[in-house]
Amino acid sequence: MVDQFVRVDPTGAMGKGTGIERRVYEALHEKMLAVRDEVAVTDMELLRSGDVPPEKQPLDAAFLDMPERLLAEYQQRREQSELGRVLKIARRLQETVDRVVLLGIGGSYMGARALMEACCQPYFNELSRGQRGGKPRLYFEGNNVDNDAMRGLLELLGAGRPARSLDDRWAIIVVSKSGTTLETAVAFRIFLQALETSVGSERLADLVVPITGPGSKLAQMCQALGCQDILPVPEGVGGRFSVLSAVGLLPAAVLGINVVALLEGAAAMTEHFRTAPPGANAVLDYVNICHCAEEQGRTIRVLCVWSKALEAVGLWYDQLLSESLGKQEKGATPITAVNTRDLHSRAQQHQEGRRDKLFTNLIVHEWRTDPLLVGRRPADEDGLNDLAERSLPQIMEAAVWGTNEALQQAGRPTVDIHLPAINEFYLGQLLQMLMLATVVEGRLIGVNPYGQPGVEAYKKAMYRRLGR
Ligand code: PA5
Repeated sequence: MVDQFVRVDPTGAMGKGTGIERRVYEALHEKMLAVRDEVAVTDMELLRSGDVPPEKQPLDAAFLDMPERLLAEYQQRREQSELGRVLKIARRLQETVDRVVLLGIGGSYMGARALMEACCQPYFNELSRGQRGGKPRLYFEGNNVDNDAMRGLLELLGAGRPARSLDDRWAIIVVSKSGTTLETAVAFRIFLQALETSVGSERLADLVVPITGPGSKLAQMCQALGCQDILPVPEGVGGRFSVLSAVGLLPAAVLGINVVALLEGAAAMTEHFRTAPPGANAVLDYVNICHCAEEQGRTIRVLCVWSKALEAVGLWYDQLLSESLGKQEKGATPITAVNTRDLHSRAQQHQEGRRDKLFTNLIVHEWRTDPLLVGRRPADEDGLNDLAERSLPQIMEAAVWGTNEALQQAGRPTVDIHLPAINEFYLGQLLQMLMLATVVEGRLIGVNPYGQPGVEAYKKAMYRRLGR
């Protein structure tokens, strides 16, 4: 039977020779409860009071109850609510353009990319408009200053040529909480110029949707342009915790992803986190086993995603963990592996390399499409006829089992996260679970999970080089 909730099974980390004893794991349950209180109660009270002590600053904890807040407001105020506005803008873009370019970097784009790759047809952008159900194609830029990549996209958009039909028309969603991030700001200037050349200055404002912090330079610029819709990155929500705000929801809604189900999944996970006891709590159990492993010197955390559609979820999580906990010379190093692909590139090291890794399997139970069978050939030239009746999901299941078996035999700890299926509801649960887990782990090890002071160092040096 398939579970109806994302579930964490840490038993593979407590096998023979992994160095993690069940009693050590269970002894942490009480501490986990105290940390849950801190995250779910104390921090939220501090945030609401507006009186955050210096050692807790910044406190970007508003992501925690954001899904339930957005849903409740939508119930009451429909089109006037934040989610209602998101859905309305998404419909407008669907009706008026064939391509959308999302400009943003880090937390301002990785969530949207994760949602697109997880929920859309794998070759979505290459499908015809009809096959896409009338939804625009989505491209990501402003996440680098790579000349050739940016020119490549401008060329694809036919930038500089007048837009004659719907097929030529494109729009920009520009996302930057600060409104000053150089990569995004430079890209915005370049794409805005290209869009203006295509459609003229009168139509420009309808085709630009900014998502930004209140009063930012970007907000001011877009107001001056006459943009009708400026969506917020909500107060108290940090970039990498913003996937379930307009930052992730608008691009997702443009693609036709069911954002209400996404939020419902996330809200269900928050409730589970608040109420389920340790030992049956996906967030607390995951953090507990990760922490036990790290205490044993397993400082590399490999997230093995067993579906290509989840690679960008892995990359989103890499950022979440790195920027949140990589402080004070602490924090595990995240790596995403896509299996079975990376069994042919990384598995040797995982199996026999340094004993510094914890392997988290993200396992999908139900595939979106009908199972493909290997099939039979009369002459059996490739010798696969013994597998003729087997399906790809069955081979995948055997690969998960075999890989876990081999790792555990070698005393290498594994944890399984079971995803019943890749749909909006479970994805909402998963994203919220990983955000909550990151914050809980931060509080557990005494690291403020919010803010990213270390990122400023490269910016300062780069600006010096640019004579700024
Ligand atoms: O998690 C974060 O806060 C960062 O990764 C930011 O999202 C990233 O630096 C982009 O910042 P901004 O949205 O201000 O352009």
